[in-house]
Amino acid sequence: MTYDPISRTFLDFFRERGHELVSDGSLIPPPGDPVLFTTSGMHPLTPYLEGRPHPLGRRLVNVQRCLRTTDLDEVGDCTHLTLFRMLGSWSLGDYDLPRSLRWGYELLRDGFGIDHDRMHVTVFGGDEQVGPDEPSLRTWNELGLPVELTGAENWWSNGPTGPCGPDTEIFVWTGDGPPLGTPGTDSRWMEVWNHVGMRHHRHPDGRLSPLRQPNVDTGMGLERLEMVLGGHRSVFEGAGLVPWVRGVSGGWGLRDGSLRLVADHLRASVVVIGDGVRPSNTGRGYVLRRLLRRALTTLWRDDASRTLSDLPTGAVRHTLDGFGQSGTVDEVRDVFSGEERRFRELLRRGRPVVSRRRSRGPLTDEDYRDLHDTHGLPRDLVDGLLAEVS
Ligand code: ALA
Repeated sequence: MTYDPISRTFLDFFRERGHELVSDGSLIPPPGDPVLFTTSGMHPLTPYLEGRPHPLGRRLVNVQRCLRTTDLDEVGDCTHLTLFRMLGSWSLGDYDLPRSLRWGYELLRDGFGIDHDRMHVTVFGGDEQVGPDEPSLRTWNELGLPVELTGAENWWSNGPTGPCGPDTEIFVWTGDGPPLGTPGTDSRWMEVWNHVGMRHHRHPDGRLSPLRQPNVDTGMGLERLEMVLGGHRSVFEGAGLVPWVRGVSGGWGLRDGSLRLVADHLRASVVVIGDGVRPSNTGRGYVLRRLLRRALTTLWRDDASRTLSDLPTGAVRHTLDGFGQSGTVDEVRDVFSGEERRFRELLRRGRPVVSRRRSRGPLTDEDYRDLHDTHGLPRDLVDGLLAEVS
């Protein structure tokens, strides 16, 4: 695996401080794991955060590809990506959260050259179960950074149960001119790095108990850091996205939000395909299907003759290489065109059926069920067709 200069600076910083490199795993979690995709660098490390000794020791660092579908509706703006790389560092029951915050501050300021005045942090202010995160608050005060205390936004977990804890987030000012307001009041403060005091375990009944060891789990979005360091207006100006932006705007003439959505979804689809997933009606395959269909819906919004056969192949190659994937451009192209064919056919069959149902009045849950079971039309597709006919 070859790393870009930002990742190298991050990895070197932590390796100099005794962290061992964990290799970038696939987006597919190990068998038996209920989560569809790796959504965070900590995710493959869950058993070790819960106390199993890690073969590489108690200080770890890596760059992990992650896929998040929770933010799908925000993709199209300038800072959200479905697929991104997370720079992560961990203390498995070794050093504490204040140690991690001091290193984080040092790396951002001295390693990456981000001005002290462009940083703002948020800290967990406590809830009915857990008190405020005093150690983080004290550390940031000592370092002289402005702090905003919040509630649930600063509690991190990877799901309803399992390891979790208070987190403290570092934001960087991305606006022109001097910083204004706080992360809570001005969206030009962009979250770049999250440090979690991963020391609780949430049980199915909502109860918390202490983990066998207090851990630190941190994650920083590589593409966001690249945006900050490059003085860019958007993550789409970063090295991994530029070929997609060029290809999608050059090939199909898309602009702004539509351009960003299609670039994001196609790039994410390439990596998902490269990790072995194929479109289907369930699980991971359905996520891939949704990504491709959302991209196609956007492409066809003002020109139904657009086709993924005009795909920017340079961008596909660039992404497969960048993620060290062995898949070929032809394989990706085959999956894309197969899905495009199926989707066109489904829309052709579905349009009159949905429009007939709609003419009888608003659709009920039973209609949706029937459209799905009898005609193979999933709910989000029906909603798309309803938007067309209404
Ligand atoms: N696991 C934490 C996150 O994903 C660091 O933000």
